[in-house]
Amino acid sequence: MHEPAILVTGGAGYIGSHVVKQLGRSGRRLVVLDNLSTGFPDAVLHGELVVGDTGDMDLVRELLVRHRVRAVLHFAAHIVVPESVRDPLKYYRNNTCNTRNLLACCAAAGVEHFIFSSTAAVYGIPQETFIDEDAPTAPINPYGASKLMSEWMLRDLAAASQLRYVILRYFNVAGADPEGEIGQRTPEATHLIKVACEAAVGRRPGVEIFGTDYPTPDGTCIRDYIHVDDLAAAHLQALAHLEGGGASTILNCGYGHGYSVREVLAAVERVSGRPLNIRETGRRPGDPPALTADSRRIREVLGWRPRHDDLEFIVRTALDWERALARKQAAEG
Ligand code: UFG
Repeated sequence: MHEPAILVTGGAGYIGSHVVKQLGRSGRRLVVLDNLSTGFPDAVLHGELVVGDTGDMDLVRELLVRHRVRAVLHFAAHIVVPESVRDPLKYYRNNTCNTRNLLACCAAAGVEHFIFSSTAAVYGIPQETFIDEDAPTAPINPYGASKLMSEWMLRDLAAASQLRYVILRYFNVAGADPEGEIGQRTPEATHLIKVACEAAVGRRPGVEIFGTDYPTPDGTCIRDYIHVDDLAAAHLQALAHLEGGGASTILNCGYGHGYSVREVLAAVERVSGRPLNIRETGRRPGDPPALTADSRRIREVLGWRPRHDDLEFIVRTALDWERALARKQAAEG
């Protein structure tokens, strides 16, 4: 009989695929469940890919039992904040209802460990710029609310059962696999580093700065950018924590310091060796001036240490990926 598998939902997506790569390398048996709405089958470098929906309870039940799953990593979600404002029920269905159904299947199948992809968006517009996990949660968009509701379901289910969890609240995830095999492929990207790298390789005419009148040193917003590989490593350590008997916990994922929009764009110009066509425009609604993670807890609880806390490295891997993507798409016509 096979060893129990780990179920990874959304493993064909940006962050999920990086975690699948690291888990596969570490020799774990994986089953990836992804409906390919935004993921890509060739991003799944290890394990068995099952194309299907997290909300399909019959399918999920069958997978959990057949593969004797003890641990679930749940990435599958919609993640575009402005879209969540336009179409909130899409987010509550896919992010919240589907998580509820997944949790129901996990409870029935005796799954012991659950790692959940949450977001700094649960904090809304925080009082402090340096945020710890006990800061009040007050999401300002349906995306953040849909994730926070999932956190609550997980917390409450864990209190009523044997399930233990780690909730990881991601700050600004960026960069790509340093080996160049996988990266972010979102067709209509909105995230700053991805957008700037697309501009740097000529796939967009330029990049806009949304607001230059914030109360920050250079007037643009500050964010805590974390390399996707460091984030992926945090998932493996979170799993080891749970498998070693560790308690349920919520952990911020960020480096604990940030960069302004202007600093990010300057880094993209340095790394690419070319000036960007930059246009300064007004503020984007809902952007807090500065968001940086207090990351002491993840360092203490998991012993997590970033390997790529270096903006230029983040940008270089993102840019290399963007170039590879442009070549691939040119070759495909
Ligand atoms: N920005 C620009 N121009 C762009 C894109 C972004 O100036 O073309 C600015 C934004 O206004 C913001 C900063 O760059 O100040 C970062 O914006 P992103 O869109 O890259 O990321 P966000 O900080 O808005 O969002 C991230 C995650 C979300 C999560 C949120 C939590 O991507 O999933 O943090 O605060 F909800």
